[in-house]
Amino acid sequence: MRKKVIAGNWKMNKLPNETITFFEELAPLVKNTKNEVIICAPYTDLFYAILSAQNTNIKIGAQNMHWEENGAYTGEISPQMLKSIGVEYVIIGHSERRQYFAETDETVNKKVKAAHNVGLKPIVCVGETLSQRESGKAKEIVTNQIKSGLKDLTKNEIMSTIVAYEPIWAIGTGKTATKEDANETIKWIREELEKIYGKENADKVIIQYGGSVKSENAKELFEMSDIDGGLVGGASLKPDEFAKIVNAI
Ligand code: PGA
Repeated sequence: MRKKVIAGNWKMNKLPNETITFFEELAPLVKNTKNEVIICAPYTDLFYAILSAQNTNIKIGAQNMHWEENGAYTGEISPQMLKSIGVEYVIIGHSERRQYFAETDETVNKKVKAAHNVGLKPIVCVGETLSQRESGKAKEIVTNQIKSGLKDLTKNEIMSTIVAYEPIWAIGTGKTATKEDANETIKWIREELEKIYGKENADKVIIQYGGSVKSENAKELFEMSDIDGGLVGGASLKPDEFAKIVNAI
């Protein structure tokens, strides 16, 4: 039985003082959940988030990183830097990074491997645009992102990788994929993983849905057979709303 994993992606939001207040409010609201709860904060909030989440069941993730350990990469943050302050997860290949910062399946693959090398768990985002979906290419696009982005991982690595299926047309738009559509695509993703890593391993991989998840639709999405929780953007910024999503199931 796979666990449900609910991760908040704050994107470029919140200052350190807001981070501290957020955790004070969220922690008591989610303390009894059996689900895994993660907050992916901006770099400048991470250390405050780690301290605020001590003695709670909330885990901390970053939203990006470089694949190199160190070096002349002005403005970048390495996997080791994240690990050293207690970060456990890192979002890799979010569609906003693919769209605005030239992230490709190749860089995603390098980052995923680099994350595993230091024991960070990657949350790897895949998903199609509206025109790709309308032209019937969703399956091909998502399959390719999986094949290239998650290439050459060991079985242990794939089992500690989280995949987030986020149809790009559903991110921040208020449009959610229907629970049936989201479940169907997540099944394809699992089938693709099965071809590479075998059924036993593919069955253990957590695959989330992301794109306008909110308290009103969380339960019906998370109850689907293959949807193992959610990656939540806008609705993760308010502790009470995010707690309702975490506690939806
Ligand atoms: P949203 O964002 O929940 O605001 O649609 C999800 C995401 O981009 O991870």
